[in-house]
Amino acid sequence: PLIHVIAAARPNFMKVAPLVRALRAEKWCETELVHTGQHYDAAMSDAFFRDLSIPKPDHHLEVGSGTHAEQTAGVMVAYEKVCLARRPDWIIVVGDVNSTAACALVGAKLCIPVAHLEAGLRSGDRTMPEEINRVVTDSIADLLWTPSPDGDENLAREGRAQCVERVGNIMIDTFEMLRDRIEAARSYEAHDLTREGYGVVTLHRPANVDDRDTLTALVDGLVSVAAETPLVFPIHPRTRKMLTTFGLLDRLEAAPGMILTEPLGYIDFMGLVTAARLVITDSGGVQEETTYLGIPCLTLRPNTERPVTITQGSNRLVAPSDLSSAAHAALATGRRTAPPPALWDGQTAARVVASLKRRIVGAAAGTEA
Ligand code: UD1
Ligand code: UDP
Repeated sequence: PLIHVIAAARPNFMKVAPLVRALRAEKWCETELVHTGQHYDAAMSDAFFRDLSIPKPDHHLEVGSGTHAEQTAGVMVAYEKVCLARRPDWIIVVGDVNSTAACALVGAKLCIPVAHLEAGLRSGDRTMPEEINRVVTDSIADLLWTPSPDGDENLAREGRAQCVERVGNIMIDTFEMLRDRIEAARSYEAHDLTREGYGVVTLHRPANVDDRDTLTALVDGLVSVAAETPLVFPIHPRTRKMLTTFGLLDRLEAAPGMILTEPLGYIDFMGLVTAARLVITDSGGVQEETTYLGIPCLTLRPNTERPVTITQGSNRLVAPSDLSSAAHAALATGRRTAPPPALWDGQTAARVVASLKRRIVGAAAGTEA
């Protein structure tokens, strides 16, 4: 059987790395990696293939950026051609980006079974493009691999319980796979910082960065936090574009304590996160990584599709106008040592492979018998 694994954007690379490695070690299947090209800058794509030892993609769709319709349609047209030529037996999509939903749709229309890794997450906020991608993908996929019990509950409510298998959080596999290199990197030293003497910032959600007033409020908050504790801020390309458009980049550059960088590779970035005193973000994956590590995280969003990060006690939702006071409080609190959620244990890729093998080899054995 031929399995396609789809990767498209930065947060996908951490999810496919352990999966492709585990699948390629199996004798009963052949695995091809498909890169849709949704992210294409060296710092948003190549850097992760290098850091995470992801093999070169077997198919590169080179779709690039565009409006939602252009990007989703571009991926569908290009991936359908690959599917017709290669006829995969299963398609694995991960996460919640436009390419996730696009490839799931292609598979479903060609009657190729689709499995979704990181299924069941719901913010309940349909103004968020990712929420639409999650709902669409989970309603048409044949196998739904969830990271946490809230995912199972959301899918049961949507009538999809029969397709659910809880496998845990694949991003922890990646972190554990690279933990030694991340710790050895001491990437904070490159910025003349000391352990737990700084914060890390990431921002890229359209609701935060595409709106002038919101982005201005966020910049005000960040400038005030940086005056107290140095902040390292690797800037996502969408955010850099909007900071420039709104004339806010100079202000950030001039702010005392603010260290701006290009987007960082995984080892450098996680090297900074593991030794940070505080993380300020609107990323999905970073909420989970800080929860796993027990690092205080302020999430600049009104909701989260990852509620365990809140119940675990590391993550807090914060409005832009409250950033400075929330950061002050979080800096005073320090780290937590609660154990990570169940199945966030570095063994998720193995559970995914076992689940797929049961479906494919088990189904074939059933047919022969
Ligand atoms: C996408 C995902 C989002 C995910 C994020 C991770 C969707 C709807 N959004 O958002 O869920 O959290 O990736 O980082 O799928 N750009 C570059 N170089 C690149 C990629 C993008 O310059 O390599 C710029 C382009 O101007 C582009 C803009 O960033 O128009 C947005 O890129 P896009 O992939 O559409 O969405 P992201 O904001 O990156
Ligand atoms: N990340 C990284 N370098 C950076 C910023 C983030 O390696 O400069 C990693 C981060 O550790 C996490 C992933 O990128 O593993 C999250 O991706 P992103 O925030 O782009 O997307 P989201 O998770 O919000 O969809």
